[in-house]
Amino acid sequence: MSSLLLFLFLFLTPSSPLEFRYHNNREIQQYLVEINASNSDISHLYSIGPSVRGQELWVLALGLSPHRHTVGIPEFKYVANMHGNEVLGRVLLLQLIDDFVRGYRNNEDWSVKLLNSTRIHILPTMNPDGFDESDTDCLFSQGRANYNGVDLNRNFPDAFAGLRKQPQLEESRREAEVRAVIGWLRMESFVLSANLHGGALVASYPYDNSNGGSELVGGASVSPDDDVFNHLAKVYSHNHASMHHGEQCRDSRPFLEGVTNGYLWYPISGVKGRVFDGSGVPVQNAVVEVKGRSNMCPFRTDKHGEYYRLLLPGEYVFTVTHPGHKVLTETLNVPHGPDQYSAMKHDFMLRQIPATTFSTQANPTSANTPKANPTSANTPKAIPTKANSTEANLTPSCNYTLNLEAGASRSSWTGLCVSLGLMVVLLSLVS
Ligand SMILES: *[C@@H]1O[C@H](CO)[C@@H](O)[C@H](O)[C@H]1NC(C)=O
Ligand SMILES: *[C@@H]1O[C@H](CO)[C@@H](O)[C@H](O)[C@H]1NC(C)=O
Ligand SMILES: *[C@@H]1O[C@H](CO)[C@@H](O)[C@H](O)[C@H]1NC(C)=O
Ligand SMILES: *[C@@H]1O[C@H](CO)[C@@H](O)[C@H](O)[C@H]1NC(C)=O
Ligand SMILES: [Zn+2]
Repeated sequence: MSSLLLFLFLFLTPSSPLEFRYHNNREIQQYLVEINASNSDISHLYSIGPSVRGQELWVLALGLSPHRHTVGIPEFKYVANMHGNEVLGRVLLLQLIDDFVRGYRNNEDWSVKLLNSTRIHILPTMNPDGFDESDTDCLFSQGRANYNGVDLNRNFPDAFAGLRKQPQLEESRREAEVRAVIGWLRMESFVLSANLHGGALVASYPYDNSNGGSELVGGASVSPDDDVFNHLAKVYSHNHASMHHGEQCRDSRPFLEGVTNGYLWYPISGVKGRVFDGSGVPVQNAVVEVKGRSNMCPFRTDKHGEYYRLLLPGEYVFTVTHPGHKVLTETLNVPHGPDQYSAMKHDFMLRQIPATTFSTQANPTSANTPKANPTSANTPKAIPTKANSTEANLTPSCNYTLNLEAGASRSSWTGLCVSLGLMVVLLSLVS
């Protein structure tokens, strides 16, 4: 009888919240295995590969379809502890997992809606070996690097290297942890990412480096989506208890509203949809561009024909180009998005260029290309030139990124993200 009572008691008592403290690598693994085992409907635990010393880099994916991508559901990723001695991110991501799972089990709206509208991948530690080496003395950077003494944040492909005519790091010098993350990007098309560090209280957004070209504005390295990044960084800093005050740590300069150009991300509005050809088949590798935002590496659709573009509310001119098809230009109005927990959805229907025309048409965007979409009256004249240039002028670094992605035809944007290392930088608890 007493054992039955005990059993009932265990069964009825909700498990207690995760302790708010540092967990070592073994405890993290144990926690993730437990969460995965007891929440198989919303979680999927997988390793992206081993660290130099053979510790698995565990990722917990959360979502209503945790095992695989669902068309129309954006993939999001969080990475922490890339610098082994910057440990707050590990704690925060474990707490986030706990909040998500608990929220879902308690039928809380925010958790159910988020898990129903995104798939969230969480890598609590990218550098478990560095963590093991690190010390509680915060004045030194012991444990920042991986076991081979390499700073993982300086070991990714550099999107600007090609533009500077600098060679990329040789593949043989890519560390195990970095190779694991690059392989991960080939597996999933991430729309947005956050990387948690320690040492400063700021949300930092792209770009983080520069080639000294036109992207340099007033000392910042400005990306074509600067407005979006700046907005996302402010959403983060203003939802943080003190980050938006922009107060300085003893040894650093203040950040206005707690954000800085250099990096971030968080779920928000954007447009999403798919690109189909005339017969309704999804088109892979179609270039989806927004006027005035020609990215270093153009956005390309994945094998499901999917695209995602993060944009603030407003009117945007989209061009969709794909070899053998007429250039499609459409103007879309992006409404205020976050309230619906879902982006605006818009599919593009391409039309094939008739074979006779196509064979003589070396340049699909030449002036006499028939207008792709007769219903879009306000097609700007400038578009065709730009679509042409994206095909012709892929920079070597972009080519490199595209190569990385080519295995699974992933969006080039994800590769770019990693090379720029998008970060949310938070104050380290230890400092
Ligand atoms: C996660 O849980 C599922 C369902 O219980 C199980 O089949 C799978 O092996 C678990 N994965 C890991 C890595 O423990
Ligand atoms: C998930 O979202 C879909 C589409 O909005 C909706 O039909 C469904 O009821 C939602 N499921 C849950 C569990 O909220
Ligand atoms: C399109 O690209 C071709 C080949 O790269 C180039 O010769 C041509 O001038 C371009 N056309 C326009 C309109 O830019
Ligand atoms: C892109 O990469 C491929 C494969 O490595 C190479 O053959 C090609 O020449 C590269 N193109 C440019 C423009 O660098
Ligand atoms: Zn760091």
